[in-house]
Amino acid sequence: PAILLLNGPNLNLLGTREPGTYGAATLADVEANCRATAERLGHTLEALQSNHEGVLIDAIHAAGRRFKAGELLGVVMNPGAYTHTSVALHDAIAGVAPLPVMEVHISNVHAREAFRHHSYISPVAAGIVVGFGVAGYELAIEGLVRKAAAR
Ligand code: DQA
Repeated sequence: PAILLLNGPNLNLLGTREPGTYGAATLADVEANCRATAERLGHTLEALQSNHEGVLIDAIHAAGRRFKAGELLGVVMNPGAYTHTSVALHDAIAGVAPLPVMEVHISNVHAREAFRHHSYISPVAAGIVVGFGVAGYELAIEGLVRKAAAR
C-alpha cells in the first residue's frame, strides 16, 4: 500500500522560508527523499501540499476510505500552522479512525513561541516527530511502517 505525505500551509515555501528555522531543503527535496525512503521500505509515496484547510480535510477523508480498502498504509502529515488552530482537522482525523496519521514538525515547536506549544492534532495522531529538521518526515515514514508491521 501507498503512504500519503501531506503538507499544510506555507510548506510550499520550504527552502526559502525562514531557513534558520526550517532549513535549506525545498518541498521537492523533501518529497524526493520521502519517496526514496518509502520505496526502500517497499511502499509507494503520494504527496500533496495545500495552503487550504478544506483541501487537507478532503485529503484525510479520501485517505480514510483508501485505508479501509487496504490501498493506503497511513499518512505522514505536517499540518503547519493549522496544528495550532484547526479543530476541523482534528475532527477529520478522528472521523476516519483508525487511519494512522503521523504528525511531523520540522522545528521543535516546544522551544518556540507559546502559541506553537498546543496541537489540536496530537491527541488524534498515531505518533509525533518534532524537531529533527526535514529528516523527521523520513523518521515518521519509518515509524508508520514499523507500526503497521506490529499490527
Ligand atoms: C511547523 C511548525 C508550525 O508552528 C508552523 O506554523 C509551521 C511549520 C514545523 O514544521 O515546524 O508552518 O509545523
